Amino acid sequence: MGLEFRKLHPTFVAEASRIDLRKVVDESAFEQIREAMDRFAVLVFRDQGFSGEEQLAFATRLDGELHRKTGISVLQKSRFGDEALTDVSNVNADGEILEAGARQRSYTLANRLWHTDASFQDPRGRYSMLAALVVPAVSADTEFADMRSAHDTLPQTTKSGLEGLHAHHSIAYSRQTLGFEFSAAESERLKGAVHPLVLVNPRTGRRSLYLASHASRIVEQPIAEGRLLLRDLMEHATRPERVYRHAWRAGDFVIWDNRATMHRARPFEDTVHRREMRRVTTLDVGDPSRVAQAA
Ligand code: OGA
Ligand code: MN
Repeated sequence: MGLEFRKLHPTFVAEASRIDLRKVVDESAFEQIREAMDRFAVLVFRDQGFSGEEQLAFATRLDGELHRKTGISVLQKSRFGDEALTDVSNVNADGEILEAGARQRSYTLANRLWHTDASFQDPRGRYSMLAALVVPAVSADTEFADMRSAHDTLPQTTKSGLEGLHAHHSIAYSRQTLGFEFSAAESERLKGAVHPLVLVNPRTGRRSLYLASHASRIVEQPIAEGRLLLRDLMEHATRPERVYRHAWRAGDFVIWDNRATMHRARPFEDTVHRREMRRVTTLDVGDPSRVAQAA
């Protein structure tokens, strides 16, 4: 399969040549996509027509095990009947646009914070694959930040200082910064997870900063010092030259590596315009090619 990739940003993100991902079956094609993911960290595929089941099947073949605790699934049942299929839409179970006060809406609003998917879980998310089903006529974009570039461009002394540090990630923390409240039972379920501040891609050896608005503190540092460091790194990582803004078209299918990027939704009049998106995220466990071969 002769897939070609056209860069959409100087340091990451590429658009793939025409392909129907539902029809991809041979392992060499999957390996080509994984290699492109290692190179570009975000891949854009146009005109895909996945059903929910086909999206789940594709994600499993590409990257192994699926994440079932990435987002709102910790709070409510999925309207798609499988917790691995995350609803990122602004509509309710009856297909009506969510009202301003709806709990599901305030939950999804938090996607406007810079984050990586499921960093508050262990295992964390590896690849996320977001399918745009219905896209409004107004812009309702998603931004991505290159966390490899964020790491590469730090001064050497800062880089050395980050090795061996860990951040605690908690969704309760990031949501609380927006005034969202959790019950005691929910808080207990959302205790969070600890991950290194610098991740190394095991296939390429490339380092990236692993940050998110879920990062509440640095385990090895006093709270205030850790939070200030996290803020500085966040500011550095999201400078305009490291950000790609994706303007969605219906049928777009975007795969990103959560170890090497952050992302955030951009605001639009979401109580007026319908936007239907469906995401599948994989677990960051094992080597993807070996996981897929074993499956
Ligand atoms: C996601 C996400 C952003 C958006 O699906 O994980 O953060 O723009 N989406 O919908
Ligand atoms: Mn997300």
